[in-house]
Amino acid sequence: MFNVSRRAIGHVGLGFGIHACVGMAMARPEGEAMLTALARHVRKIEPTGEPRRMLNNTLRGLESLPLRLVPA
Ligand code: HEM
Repeated sequence: MFNVSRRAIGHVGLGFGIHACVGMAMARPEGEAMLTALARHVRKIEPTGEPRRMLNNTLRGLESLPLRLVPA
């Protein structure tokens, strides 16, 4: 579960040091805009099927995540 109040100091979601993400200045406001729009317009997000894992040796991720967004 996504815990919005977790302590996020020290995360490496955008890498760190000399190879830290070059796009973070763009990715951060994009993420904020997306989460703000979801919080404003969506009351509930429900799964509508089983998530399917992506087959990849280096990146952990999903190939599909069927969801239904219930409007606020
Ligand atoms: C939510 C969106 C994004 C996430 C989570 C993300 C995450 C990351 C992470 C974890 C790294 C470090 C990889 C490593 O240490 O090997 C990285 C590097 C990088 N990211 Fe992003 N990124 C995002 C968006 C972007 C965007 C929008 C751009 C370009 C416009 C971008 C360009 C780059 C580049 C060029 C590097 C390599 C930097 C280097 O090696 O010096 N990223 N990113």
